[in-house]
Amino acid sequence: MQKITTTLKKLFYLWRRSQIPIKQPNKISEIDNLIIFLISILISIVSSYKLLLISPLNLSDIFSWLLTFTEALISSGILIVVSKKENPTINSRQIILIITLLLAVQTSKLAFSSTISPLSIIIPPALIISQAMGSITALAWVSIASLSWPDPGIAINNNLFFISLVGASVVSLLGGRIRSRAQLLQLSIFVPIGAFLSQWILMDKDKIFLLEKQEFFLTNGKIFSDSLLLAIVMLFTILLIPIFESIFGLLTKARLLELADKEKPLIRRLSLEAPGTFEHTLLICGLAEEATRMIGGDIDLIKTGALYHDVGKLHAPNWFIENQEGSNNPHDEINDPFKSAEVLQAHVDEGLKYARKNRLPKPIADFIPEHQGTLKMGYFFHKAKEKNLNINEKDFRYKGPVPQSKETAILMLADGCEAALRAMNINASDNEALETITKIIFSRQKDGQLNDSNLSKGEIFLIKRAFLNVWKRIRHRRIQYPTTKNNTFS
Ligand SMILES: [Fe+2]
Ligand SMILES: [Fe+2]
Repeated sequence: MQKITTTLKKLFYLWRRSQIPIKQPNKISEIDNLIIFLISILISIVSSYKLLLISPLNLSDIFSWLLTFTEALISSGILIVVSKKENPTINSRQIILIITLLLAVQTSKLAFSSTISPLSIIIPPALIISQAMGSITALAWVSIASLSWPDPGIAINNNLFFISLVGASVVSLLGGRIRSRAQLLQLSIFVPIGAFLSQWILMDKDKIFLLEKQEFFLTNGKIFSDSLLLAIVMLFTILLIPIFESIFGLLTKARLLELADKEKPLIRRLSLEAPGTFEHTLLICGLAEEATRMIGGDIDLIKTGALYHDVGKLHAPNWFIENQEGSNNPHDEINDPFKSAEVLQAHVDEGLKYARKNRLPKPIADFIPEHQGTLKMGYFFHKAKEKNLNINEKDFRYKGPVPQSKETAILMLADGCEAALRAMNINASDNEALETITKIIFSRQKDGQLNDSNLSKGEIFLIKRAFLNVWKRIRHRRIQYPTTKNNTFS
């Protein structure tokens, strides 16, 4: 009996954990909620108004109109819930984008359904949504956009409808995984070719009939022009994606990878003006990437976030120990712990300014304050304490917030462990390294820094193992290989 209760408790715990979003959901203002509601009402009107144009209108017509209207309204609601579930930090602009695309599609169906194939109406928006919001949201969008047709009088070819649904689903699934603009281009070529071939094959049974009616070549031509139009609209959509990214603050995989390019001006400046910080950043990238892979987090996000986490140090590189290279430490010269604490906090504040100036997306900018959380600047706090016992601990803590996601929490832990692992003796055993890592992580945990991150105990265990693996790699790299007599390497 006890076993059953324990299992049930465990299952309930797992279920509850799965319900907790990784990040605190963004608050949506009342105005934005009103706009979203009004667009949803418009979608319902567009989807159902034709049912009221029947004359004479009887009670059953009004009932079926009401049913379609409510169905469209509920569908918009479901779409918003699914998108929020997949992206807990989704903002109002992004929700407005999703439902505006739905409104646009419903309107296009009314305006062009007799001239344009549903392929070109449904597939391109699915590509935008999958890139920006992920595959699940895109699939939900595709099912609603495909199943809800405003005009029941529009005769849709069953085969064509099926191909559109499959094509849009494939684009939704692949679009969420695509990592570069080149892959996007490949998709915009292969999907139309696939659509052309499948239409041609599925049309097979009608061929004889069409041949008899001498419409075979005409229909083939239509299939070809439909597929060509799909390719053109998809290419056009790919060109528009960067504009959508900047207007709606979208963070596509391609954008993440572009930002991670080390030739980006801000990163280039970091490598030239603060080489120590740049080195520290690269090591942290390695630690954070390994840990994120272990827990199944967003690797591209953390790699890019890690690259920008300390850009704020550019405002005064030599005030940070990694850039001093034996030169005088300005903190010793001013001998004022309060001023020193201000300089440390400034690397967060200035970092956020750099992020704004360089138009870094919010999920990347979040790494800047959250990697420091509300950590205590221990060294300067103790120095101040030596001088004056009545000091406020708050003056020596970063302003926060504490990490709000698993990724920013991992970065905080990697940031804490990096210096300790780098300074570690090359002959230190694995156990010693693990002990150091555990000590640092435990101190962060005890300080409440991981409270909002939603990291489980199991995940913290995996993060420790990941850091240890990276340490083993660092140690291996530091071992000097014996050279051969004539100094040649193979
Ligand atoms: Fe930092
Ligand atoms: Fe750092």
